[in-house]
Amino acid sequence: MNDIAVKKVFLFNEKVSLREFNKEDWMAVHQYASQDQVCQYQPWGPNSEEDSKGFIQEVLANAEQYPRTRHTLAIEFSGKLVGAGELAIDDISNRVGEMGYVVNPDYWGQGIATEAAQLLIKFGFQELELHRIFATCDPRNIGSAKVLEKVGMTKEGRLREHKLIRDGWRDSFLYSILEHEWKKSNE
Ligand SMILES: CC(C)(COP(=O)(O)OP(=O)(O)OC[C@H]1O[C@@H](n2cnc3c(N)ncnc32)[C@H](O)[C@@H]1OP(=O)(O)O)[C@@H](O)C(=O)NCCC(=O)NCCS
Repeated sequence: MNDIAVKKVFLFNEKVSLREFNKEDWMAVHQYASQDQVCQYQPWGPNSEEDSKGFIQEVLANAEQYPRTRHTLAIEFSGKLVGAGELAIDDISNRVGEMGYVVNPDYWGQGIATEAAQLLIKFGFQELELHRIFATCDPRNIGSAKVLEKVGMTKEGRLREHKLIRDGWRDSFLYSILEHEWKKSNE
């Protein structure tokens, strides 16, 4: 097998680390992904146990693909799995990636999503050589919008009826950061 195909990703800073998921992680995922408040603005969930096991299976399968286009990583804080962060390559030729994250409510408001997003953006520009990273969030999702602003993303506008969630079609705010903007803010 090609070495690159099995390359494991590990990202860290002083506060959090992002590591590859493993099979046993489904319980920690289920602990947050089964909660209404976590899935309120998402097209997925609340998860059954089968859904959470299926999520892990999909993540493990994606990690084996070459070229790998989805990096879905476990967020660890104080030695515990407290969420997930993802960077998915959306368009290889134009070097565009999409970022997402979720944090267990027991750990909200401690800067974990902000730190994880910073690590994912750095990984996207430095390792994956992306040119543009974007993210969307429900306009009602104040916490997520704050995270995207804190990591230096620019709000580009509002996508109308962008996702179908349990209570109907929802709009999304669209945020992005470009390679040269990120480099400039990290000089
Ligand atoms: C959105 C989410 C990831 C934020 O995670 P977090 O680790 O609590 O985020 P941070 O601690 O880095 O918070 C960033 C800022 O948002 C604020 N914030 C977080 N949740 C908030 C909320 N519900 N309402 C208002 N502000 C909120 C924090 O206080 C912080 O602001 P500050 O630095 O000015 O104090 C988390 O609430 C979550 O997992 N929600 C469910 C899944 C989700 O919505 N994912 C994003 C999909 S777009």
